[in-house]
Amino acid sequence: MTETVLLIGGGGREHAIARALAESDCTLYAAGGNRNPGIASLADGFETLETTNPQAVTTYANKVDASLAVVGPEAPLEAGVADALDEAGIYAFGPQAEQARIETNKGFQRRFMDRHDIPGCPDYEEFTDNEAACEHIEEYDGDLVVKPAGLTGGKGVRVIGDQVTAEQAKTYIRESSHDRIVLEERLVGEEFTIQALVANGELRVTPAVQDHKRAYEGDDGPNTGGMGSYSDAGLELPFMDRDDYLEAVDILEATVDALEGYKGVLYGQFMLTAEGPKVVEFNARFGDPEAMNTLPVMETDLLDVLVAAREGESLPKLQFQPQATVCKYAVPDGYPTDPDAGAKVQISPENAGDALLYYASVDEREDGIYTTTSRSFAVVGVADGITDAEEITTGALNSAGTEGLRVRWDIGQAELVQSRIDHMDELHSSE
Ligand code: AMP
Ligand code: GLY
Repeated sequence: MTETVLLIGGGGREHAIARALAESDCTLYAAGGNRNPGIASLADGFETLETTNPQAVTTYANKVDASLAVVGPEAPLEAGVADALDEAGIYAFGPQAEQARIETNKGFQRRFMDRHDIPGCPDYEEFTDNEAACEHIEEYDGDLVVKPAGLTGGKGVRVIGDQVTAEQAKTYIRESSHDRIVLEERLVGEEFTIQALVANGELRVTPAVQDHKRAYEGDDGPNTGGMGSYSDAGLELPFMDRDDYLEAVDILEATVDALEGYKGVLYGQFMLTAEGPKVVEFNARFGDPEAMNTLPVMETDLLDVLVAAREGESLPKLQFQPQATVCKYAVPDGYPTDPDAGAKVQISPENAGDALLYYASVDEREDGIYTTTSRSFAVVGVADGITDAEEITTGALNSAGTEGLRVRWDIGQAELVQSRIDHMDELHSSE
């Protein structure tokens, strides 16, 4: 029987999932809050609907006779879309709402790590009283990180001693409308992501990726959903070694063991500190942009993973091409604080050369594709090394033109990668 897969979500990450599935022997349908032209061109049908409405999603899934579903973003997971699909007899690769709390509730995430003795948990406290949180900042010996407990699209965190002073953090808490706040120890080091495909008590891991959350070159400016990312030709990144990677995998494994019955992607965001990897957060889905680094080099058929997951079988071992990748998002001018929408997107699959193009939040009109106020599209270069992959990405962006858009050109460039290596060397030598 040919599988019919429904993909939920309309961003760059979902475009990458769609492209992986387009190479598989399945019929693909997609549903997103916005019409993603890249996904629409790969799918047999694309429905624009409210992806956080479980009823709307299951109705469409039934209409297209889906035999499997993949939930891309976190908001539908939090809203119980995987629960509703499972209940309707359509296996959803994505955790049910209760298990997605590993991402959607940061207080739960830390208590869960504590309760199950999962290694790599920073010191933390959770507060419902803003004044008590401010007092904790005053009394704590060291820098803290302020995290609203709920979802904020990666934009709610404030790091004292990096982005804000203690005074600014207190003002942020007092002026915020978040009803629960986690304050946790500031971890110092280099961040990396490992995404694991999980089902039936097993996990299969993918190569490490480094995302760049800050808006501007040199890691300056406000946090964004992610401006771009790179991966190397092997499992680890240039600033880490195999043991660091394996230690992080052990943390993911311990988490999967504790999260009984988890299915979907478990995304670990780690800080490689002088004492080894610590957990910045878990996500319950592929990373965006990280999916665009991982899926293009995955040789194993993603559909085989989904089918094995649904059938209760052991997941296939994952194979990856030994290639590096560099992904850069083009975002509207002024993003994230004051984005200007409406620029015409010049790049297309035809003029992107050797680079891969993934559409995100764009608006397709009769005369072309236009930007909105969120990240517009991502370009990915794949090559033997990071520097070559970066050149492919930058070359494609430059030759197509980026008028009205902003790109972090420094991502994946030798100088920035070297500064990560130097940073870790410094931390190790001051131990
Ligand atoms: P999150 O929304 O949890 O992904 O956090 C956004 C960013 O804040 C992370 O990618 C880190 O750069 C930073 N961050 C979060 N938690 C910590 C921490 N405990 N120590 C240092 N930086 C952190
Ligand atoms: N790359 C960050 C995220 O997907 O949350």
